[in-house]
Amino acid sequence: MRILGIETSCDDTGAAIYDSHQGLIVHQLASQVDLHQQYGGVVPELAARDHIRVLLPLIDSLVRDPLNDAKKLDAVAYTAGPGLVGALLVGASLGKSLAQSWGVPAIGVHHMEGHLLSPMLEDNPPEFPFLALLVSGGHTLLVDVEAAGHYKILGQSVDDAAGEAFDKTAKLLGLDYPGGPAIAKAAINGDANRFTFPRPMTNRPGLDFSFSGLKTHTLITAQKHQLDEQTIADIALAFELAVVDTLKIKCSRALSQTMRKRLVVAGGVGANQRLRATLQKLADQNNVRLFYPRAEFCTDNGAMIAYAGYFRLTTEGLANRRLATGKPAVNDYAFDVHPRWSLEDI
Ligand code: KG4
Ligand code: ZN
Repeated sequence: MRILGIETSCDDTGAAIYDSHQGLIVHQLASQVDLHQQYGGVVPELAARDHIRVLLPLIDSLVRDPLNDAKKLDAVAYTAGPGLVGALLVGASLGKSLAQSWGVPAIGVHHMEGHLLSPMLEDNPPEFPFLALLVSGGHTLLVDVEAAGHYKILGQSVDDAAGEAFDKTAKLLGLDYPGGPAIAKAAINGDANRFTFPRPMTNRPGLDFSFSGLKTHTLITAQKHQLDEQTIADIALAFELAVVDTLKIKCSRALSQTMRKRLVVAGGVGANQRLRATLQKLADQNNVRLFYPRAEFCTDNGAMIAYAGYFRLTTEGLANRRLATGKPAVNDYAFDVHPRWSLEDI
């Protein structure tokens, strides 16, 4: 089976072709960072318009790529949610239209299932069951993956997502958007002894997260000091260390609770080197294997959506358990998107 994947849930236009025998064939990403940078965050209407401008030429170049070898595509997967409704509708309508014209099925994919399965695109992918830490701009989730497609959310953020906290903190420090890479870069020159920030919700039981207080703590610290380059670096480091340590503490707790021996980390914040190194240490100490995708597949991309579509269409027991509203039939013109959608409701 050869499947086209389309990702347009937020500010990246991604497309990829995945083959069940040969693996990932081609993938491309058009980032909208330059478009949104001047606003310090994603402007939904601009995001949707840019997806319209970019998506079809991007898919056209993949389909015509010599690596695709003019092979027939057997299915189309598009991100059906969660995400920005206008942005989702662009991928859904084009994905569904292409599938109709090619006479193949279209399947709406859950964006976070895409992130969760993204390590499957690498050599030595994890087997089920495993624990997954999904840390993106919109979500912070600890998920117990009991078996293929069986998700139990153990903990999640009660306010800001981890990536959102990075983005907002970067903005208040006058750093670039997206904030994660900007904070990580500034933190390299930081002095770890100057500030220590709180590790929210770690001194009480449970696996939920809260990052908005940490953002406020950063704001108050920033207001008390002259924001020269060294102070920005010191605050960035204190913030990064607090987020990473908090995520580590919750992962450690979840591993003890579930007794899982595999840990997957994915989503944009999963590209953070300090997080990866810290979780690797935790995994080594607990005889757990850590899995993550290459950095470019941590952030949004079409490859994970193509894979998730393939997974849904071919995994026994899941093939007929499509979206509540998503109808894969070729002759069905209807499509739907779900801006809010829990992994447990797939
Ligand atoms: O998964 P993703 O591309 O989009 C969503 O599904 O939300 O995640 C984007 C988030 C942004 O908040 C960005 O600041 C964060 O991931 N991010 C990072 C890093 N790279 C991206 N956060 C920390 N360190 C990084 N290196
Ligand atoms: Zn994402």
